[in-house]
Amino acid sequence: MEEALKIPNHVGIIVDGNGRWGTEKGLSRSKGHEAGFINLQKLTAYMFKRGVSYISAYLFSTENFKRSQKEVDFIMNLLTGKLKEILAFCHEEKIHVYFSGRETGLSSKVIKAMKQIEAETKTYENKYFNICFNYGGHAEIVDATKKIVEDVQNKKLDIGTLDEKLYEKYLYHKLPPVDLLIRTSGEMRISNFMLWQCSYAEFYFPKVYFPDFDDKAFEEALREYNQRNRRFGGVNNDQKSN
Ligand code: IPE
Ligand code: IPE
Ligand code: MG
Repeated sequence: MEEALKIPNHVGIIVDGNGRWGTEKGLSRSKGHEAGFINLQKLTAYMFKRGVSYISAYLFSTENFKRSQKEVDFIMNLLTGKLKEILAFCHEEKIHVYFSGRETGLSSKVIKAMKQIEAETKTYENKYFNICFNYGGHAEIVDATKKIVEDVQNKKLDIGTLDEKLYEKYLYHKLPPVDLLIRTSGEMRISNFMLWQCSYAEFYFPKVYFPDFDDKAFEEALREYNQRNRRFGGVNNDQKSN
C-alpha cells in the first residue's frame, strides 16, 4: 500500500550519472544514456501516478556541448530515433510535454521532433512534463530579459510595472515553483538548472546513478521531503517571538 505522504506539486530531476553507470558496468557511456532514457519513462509514469502534477527533467545543458561529438550525437539521436516510442508513451499516459531551452545549436531534425511532441500533447491536462534540453538557467533569464527589453522598446510594457510575477511570464513556460529537486549520482550542485524556479526548492541528493533511481528510491525521496520544514522566509507558528 502507498504511504500517505504529502506530494510535491512540482518535482525537478537533474538526471545524472548515466555515463558512470555505463562505464562502471564495463559498458559504454552511451549504454548508460540508453538505460537512463528507459528509466525516465518508468519513473515519470510512477511519479505522476503518485500525484505529482509537474515534472521538470534536465536532460541536456547548454554546457553539455563541451562533450565529444559522438556523445552529443548519441543523446540527440535518442530524441529523434525514439520519437515514435516517446509519442506513444505520452499519449498512453496523457502527458502534456513542454521543452525548455535554446534552439541554437540543435539540428532541424531535433527541433522538428520537439515541436511535434509539444503539438501532439498540448491538450492533455493534469500531468505536465517539462523537458530541459539545451537548457541553461542563465540562458533562460537572459532570454526572458531580452523579451522584456523588446516589449519596453515597443511600448508594450511599462518598466515600472515589472515585478517578480510579471517577470515569470517571460520565462520559457508558465510553471509553478519547483518544490523538490532531486539530483542523482551524489553530486551536490545544480549545474545551471532552473535557477529562477528552484529558489525555495528542497534539495535531495541520492547517491545512486540515474538509471537505478526507481520507484522505491522516489518513495525514499518523498519520505525525506515530508521531514523538511518549509518556511519560505517565515517563522514556524510554534516559535515565540519574545
Ligand atoms: C546524464 O548523466 C546527464 C547528461 C548530462 C546527459 P551524465 O552523462 O552527466 O553522466 P556522468 O555524470 O558523466 O556519469
Ligand atoms: C548537468 O549534469 C546537466 C544535465 C543533467 C543535463 P552534468 O553532468 O553536465 O553536470 P556537471 O558537469 O557534473 O556539473
Ligand atoms: Mg554528469
